[in-house]
Amino acid sequence: MKVGGVHYRSVWPGDDRRSVHAIDQTRLPHAFEIVRFTRREEIERAIRNMQVRGAPLIGASAAYGLCLEMADDPSDAALDAACRSLLATRPTAVDLANFLEAMREALGPVSPADRAECAWQRAEELADASAASCRSIGEHGVKLIEQLCEGRDASDPVNVLTHCNAGWLATVDWGTALAPIYLAHDRGIPVHVWVDETRPRNQGASLTAWELGQHGVPHTVVVDGAAGHLAQRGRVQLVLTGTDRTTADGDVCNKVGTYLKALAALDNGVPFWVALPETSIDWSLRDGVAEIPIEERDPTEVTWISGCDTSGRVVDVRITPEASPAANPAFDVTPARLVTGFVTERGLCAATPGALSRLHARP
Ligand code: MRU
Repeated sequence: MKVGGVHYRSVWPGDDRRSVHAIDQTRLPHAFEIVRFTRREEIERAIRNMQVRGAPLIGASAAYGLCLEMADDPSDAALDAACRSLLATRPTAVDLANFLEAMREALGPVSPADRAECAWQRAEELADASAASCRSIGEHGVKLIEQLCEGRDASDPVNVLTHCNAGWLATVDWGTALAPIYLAHDRGIPVHVWVDETRPRNQGASLTAWELGQHGVPHTVVVDGAAGHLAQRGRVQLVLTGTDRTTADGDVCNKVGTYLKALAALDNGVPFWVALPETSIDWSLRDGVAEIPIEERDPTEVTWISGCDTSGRVVDVRITPEASPAANPAFDVTPARLVTGFVTERGLCAATPGALSRLHARP
């Protein structure tokens, strides 16, 4: 996608094959900065502190992290240790495990002397495939927006509510939930996005709003609690989110707060769709509420907030009493019964047990 007219991916290899570049998401929306990594440990730190974040992007970044490791030490022991260490950076998004598994499958049979070359090649293939999947999600998902547009006045856009950031920043390119929105906008379908701010880290307010603005898509940022009210007043025609891990039976784990959007959508007859590439499916799990590991992040993400002051300086301020403890579960699970359907790179399907595996070849 484009920033100031220049095409960027969220992560990409350096021409020297000794470095990896990424957009620093902790600096947006106030500054657009590129970070350069030369060691696998730096990529691990970037995943943990969320300079790179979003399920497919974490996976692609980890694959490139493995490339840096293989350029340094291509031994079997280093391959094993690097995979373990990269996998431990964040627990919830299954894309991390799926990308690392694909890298390991490619690198395992290759002799150490050829591993670095093979790693760069495979990581690039995976990144390209991930971007292509997201583009296909856009092509399939735009049909939902087209249908909702039928019979509406041109001055009355389709209002889509989204949570967190499931745009191109969260993936290698295009995004998941935002891909259909970009295509709808490009095709002249009037679309407006309600952007949940997504406390505590404000991925909606900081990242989704920035992305949509760069692309010229009409949008409005709302507090997380506003979704129910907007749905009750008929001001939301579609809820569309991404996911970090979806089980074989269709339970969806996504940024904390997603479950409440699904409840509000159901109560108000608003369709709730989830966009996902195959790399976000965990075929080994069925019951998401019981089985998906939910990341608990540092409570200071709740007690402190970062923003730009009137002089343009980015500052951190505390928003809670010093003595008040805080908790920070980063994801929640929306049971399949609350999900209208899935948009994947293979098409649209219901959120019923078996529906995903009929669309995708289960490994
Ligand atoms: O904690 P984050 O910002 O990595 O969480 C990201 C999300 O919850 C996204 O909605 C999810 O990764 C799907 S987007 C491709």
